[in-house]
Amino acid sequence: MKFFIDTADVGEIRDLAETGMIDGVTTNPSLIAQSGREFTDVIEEICSFIDGPVSAEVAATDAPTMIKEGHKLAKIAKNVVIKVPLTIDGLKTCKILSDEGTMVNVTLCFSAAQAILAAKVGATFISPFVGRLDDIALDGMDLISDICDIYANYQEFTTQVLVASVRSPKHVVDAASLGADVVTIPPSALRQLYNHPLTDKGLESFLNDWAGTGQSIL
Ligand code: E4P
Repeated sequence: MKFFIDTADVGEIRDLAETGMIDGVTTNPSLIAQSGREFTDVIEEICSFIDGPVSAEVAATDAPTMIKEGHKLAKIAKNVVIKVPLTIDGLKTCKILSDEGTMVNVTLCFSAAQAILAAKVGATFISPFVGRLDDIALDGMDLISDICDIYANYQEFTTQVLVASVRSPKHVVDAASLGADVVTIPPSALRQLYNHPLTDKGLESFLNDWAGTGQSIL
């Protein structure tokens, strides 16, 4: 399973990339706005130290302008993935850019029907938003399960399931249990993955006992 980090905060990405666990990055217009920085500068900087896919989202809503924006963003680096919304214009854009050999991430997916369309137009990634479905009292993981099952029925569907809108370690574990290809995780949720009170307690006790031996390894 691949781990992408869902942020436009370059400092956070650098910090977490040092763990060796980060396979790529996703951004969106809200995350870029939060960064307070110029969009293309942020994407260029991320691509200078992340080799894996880096999603950069178009801002237009009509296909001709989305395609132009996609062409401009794709020139930033070879690992830029053009992110388009799951609208009819986004799907048209996905088909054209994918046929040209550009990676495309179709975002804002909330149904299995939408995910089928993204696979039909050759998306590299489909991004179903699990947290936002949970927020309206649906079960985001049911959608991941449905999409994984459907895609497995068709060899010609090569689109990877990228679980987005992740809010907790449970989302990550559930996505892994279902065999999703990728999870994109906000930095705070990624840090929650490795924290456990029993680990802290156990380490404290080992360190106390070790200190009592008076020994040193080095
Ligand atoms: C995915 O690519 C999106 O950037 C992201 O996961 C959205 O998450 P949110 O619902 O927490 O805003």
